[in-house]
Amino acid sequence: MHKFENSWLYQREKIDHSSKNLKIIDKINSTIKDLDTLNVLDLGTGTGSNFRFLSKKIKHENQFWTLMDISRSSLREARKHTMLNNKIKKVSLKHNDIIKDIKKTNFNQFDLVTGSAFLDIMPHKWFKDFHRLNQNTKIIYFSINYDGYFKFQPHHSLDINMLQLFNNDQQSKKNGVVKAVGPDCSEIIKTYFSKTHKTFLLNSNWIDIKNKKFQLMFLDFCKNVINKNKKNTFDEWIEFKKEKILNNKSKLNVYNKDFLAIKI
Ligand SMILES: C[S@@+](CC[C@H](N)C(=O)[O-])C[C@H]1O[C@@H](n2cnc3c(N)ncnc32)[C@H](O)[C@@H]1O
Repeated sequence: MHKFENSWLYQREKIDHSSKNLKIIDKINSTIKDLDTLNVLDLGTGTGSNFRFLSKKIKHENQFWTLMDISRSSLREARKHTMLNNKIKKVSLKHNDIIKDIKKTNFNQFDLVTGSAFLDIMPHKWFKDFHRLNQNTKIIYFSINYDGYFKFQPHHSLDINMLQLFNNDQQSKKNGVVKAVGPDCSEIIKTYFSKTHKTFLLNSNWIDIKNKKFQLMFLDFCKNVINKNKKNTFDEWIEFKKEKILNNKSKLNVYNKDFLAIKI
């Protein structure tokens, strides 16, 4: 089964859209206003959530989009919702492994390279390659980058231990192959792009999420991390959180950052 279930991607879409930092969208709009056409590449597009958000928010009337992902099943879902209109002239879907085949991607043809909920799963070396290949790209925008902090309320004494386990797991090998950077992703990308671009890092936190289904899905992620690391001391923590969610007594906060780089 594909790691990012499409059902999870749909479930988080509304929450992601209301968390994205709108100051960044304003900066994108003022940077693109003089371009005749706008070519956008969405990396790790999943079911196309970032495309749906950004294509509506940006004011350009001549948008050409490429949606890229390693998952064929997610791309099939994305295709179902790609409608052309006055603003969106063309949408191309591309099946590609952007880690393995990063050098085969011609980033020069894009004005804006973007992604959402994507950066934290990339390995460290990827950032170096990505920066080298995008030194002249006008705009780089990655939103909802996990920032290393989440909390379910009410509090439990194992919260801090669970957070540590979760964050360590975020940095573990994905598919047993390469280590992901996890919560360090925003700082890493900022360090690279500060050399060539004007950079911004702003909050895009999920605040006080009460949606039951969403919280249960997030709790499932925690459960997977616990099982993977064989830490059954957290069973009590899971039961506590589950009971609060099911009885409408729980809310979830997750901290994220949005990153923007504009070519100087
Ligand atoms: C957490 S999901 C985010 C999806 C979407 N951007 C969103 O905001 O809903 C991460 C996406 O990255 C894709 N992905 C992971 N590794 C990839 C790779 N090496 N090349 C291309 N896509 C990849 C996954 O298939 C998944 O769709």
